[in-house]
Formats: sequence, C-alpha cells, structure tokens
Amino acid sequence: MANYLITGGAGFIGSNLAQVLVENGDTVVIVDDLSMGSLANINKLNPEQVTVYQKSITDHDFMRKLLVNNHFDYLVLLGAVASVADSVVRPIETHAINCEANLNVFDVIRKHQINIKKIFFASSAAVYGNGGPTTKQETSLIDPLSPYAIDKFTTERYLLNYGKLYGLNTVAARFFNVYGPKQNPNSPYSGVLSIINKALTEDSEFALFGDGEQTRDFVYVQDVIRAVLLLLHNSNTNNNVYNIATGKSISLNKVIEIFENVYGKHLKIVRHSARKGDVKDSGADISKIQKLGFQPEYSIQEGLSAYIAAQ
Ligand code: UD1
Repeated sequence: MANYLITGGAGFIGSNLAQVLVENGDTVVIVDDLSMGSLANINKLNPEQVTVYQKSITDHDFMRKLLVNNHFDYLVLLGAVASVADSVVRPIETHAINCEANLNVFDVIRKHQINIKKIFFASSAAVYGNGGPTTKQETSLIDPLSPYAIDKFTTERYLLNYGKLYGLNTVAARFFNVYGPKQNPNSPYSGVLSIINKALTEDSEFALFGDGEQTRDFVYVQDVIRAVLLLLHNSNTNNNVYNIATGKSISLNKVIEIFENVYGKHLKIVRHSARKGDVKDSGADISKIQKLGFQPEYSIQEGLSAYIAAQ
C-alpha cells in the first residue's frame, strides 16, 4: 500500500487515477481547486482512503506545508489549465498554474530533502507543435505554439533537471489526446471528444474549428492510467520523458464519423476558422514506452464504446 499525492485529483484524469488507486488498496491525497474538476468525480471513493483539499496548487505556502508535514510515496502532478485555447486567453495565469506551482513543489522537495519514490509530471504532446516529423518521437523537434505548450515543456525540463542536479526521482510523460468518462464537457475549452459526446446526447450544435482534417492520437483514459503507473513503478524510467498515446492518429472528421455510427445519428456541425495556437497534425511514436511493456488496450472504436457505456 502506498500514499499518493494527486494534484488535479478531482479532474478528469486525476479522478480516474484516484479510483484505480483506491481499488488497489492505496491511499490518495487530492489537491484541486475545482476550477475544472468536481467533487462528484470523487465522492464515491472510500473516504478512509481519500483526503481532499480544495486548494489551488498556486498556494505555495499550502503546498509547502502539505509536503513537509506528510509522507508521500508518489506525486502525480496533473493540476493544470488543461486547454491550449484557454492558455492563449490567459497566458499569465497559465504560467502560474502550469509552471510556477510545479516548480515550487520541486523546490520544496529539494530544500527540505523530502524523500519521494517518484514524481510524475503530465507534460503534453503540444510541445511538438507543427515542426519535425508528423509522428513524434520523444527526441523530435520541440516547437511549442502556445503558452500551454511552452509551460508544459518548461516544467518538464525543470523536473528532469531537478532530478539530475538534486537527485530527485522523476519521470515526465507527454500525454496525447486523452478521453473517457468524467471529462468535463461544459467549457468551450474541454477536450473535443467530451464536447462532441455532449452535442450528440443533447442534440445540440458542435463548433468545428478548422476543416476537421487536423489529426490527433486519442487515447482512452484507462490506458493512460496504466501507463502512468508503469512509469512511476519502473525504476528504469528515472529522469526520462515518454509519449503516452496509442500510436495511431485519426482526423477529427473521421472520429466524428465513428461517433455518429456508435450513436446512430448525425452531429450538427457549425464551422469556424481554426483556433489560434492549434496544432495541425499530432501523431505519436510510442516505441519508448512499449519497450517497458506498455501496450494500449483500447482502439478508438473500443474506447468510444467504453466511454459511452460508462455514462
Ligand atoms: C489536447 C488537450 C491537452 C493535451 C493535448 C495533447 C484538452 C482540453 N486538451 O489539446 O491538455 O495536452 O491534447 O495533444 O483535452 N476542437 C473543435 N471544437 C471544439 C473543441 C476543439 O473543433 O469544440 C478542435 C480543436 O481546435 C483541435 C481539436 O479539436 O483542433 C482538439 O482540440 P482539444 O480537444 O482542445 O485538444 P488539443 O488542443 O489537441
């Protein structure tokens, strides 16, 4: 049994992870300001295994006290402004949340010589931008096109650098487009599949930005959680960065078609120009994490069916 700190633990990926950890018999401490996450995502978890702090990770003093006064085996840093488009509207706030708040955590651990088995940071495929090859390896060109991508890359580098300079045990992963149950669909900045899902269930309009030919590697949340736990528990991952994806990307138009088939109805599409800072094609080479034994279990069809069945 281990004790995990999850920032953003009431959010989409964090709450799904908390559920898996609780089922495994672990204990979980969640820090979440509920800006995108919600207590409804975690209120069915066994309260004896879960502690929730409704706090922002930008409260440096709170985070310092939390880390100094408790013992955590693992840190999973998911708390973030999760949207590329949102970061374009709020670059300064994004920087405080996505970068400075995490740097504070790393520095508290360094200064107080806190012993943690491993610190995981959720970086993003957005760091690759439009440069380099379409299928991104971890060594591919970095071409951040948005404040979001800049902060994800900066923080990932800080973490790995703290690992090398100060001996912290670290690992970072570049998430591609994660989808599944508990993804909040209620903001224009939510993940596109949650927005499409909501539009199909409610028969409302979907705003499509660009021509729909942009491609993404959509990865089901349960596959992501298995990958995160593998990276945390494998001692060979220290101070490394890994892509987390399926290795297969698909256009938005194609994913809409699959969704329509699963629901047996048409999506009402309203077309808009492409969003500022948006990446055109995002595809993943996952051979680095595959060498550790990771294999995605959900194809896009299987993932969408599981997502819909879980509602
Ligand atoms: C997503 C994640 C980001 C992650 C990145 C990794 C979200 C909110 N963002 O960014 O955290 O780091 O993948 O690749 O999950 N779109 C529409 N209509 C909408 C919403 C989006 O057409 O209502 C389009 C966007 O313009 C974009 C595509 O769908 O071209 C995907 O958008 P989005 O789900 O926001 O994801 P990313 O920007 O790829």
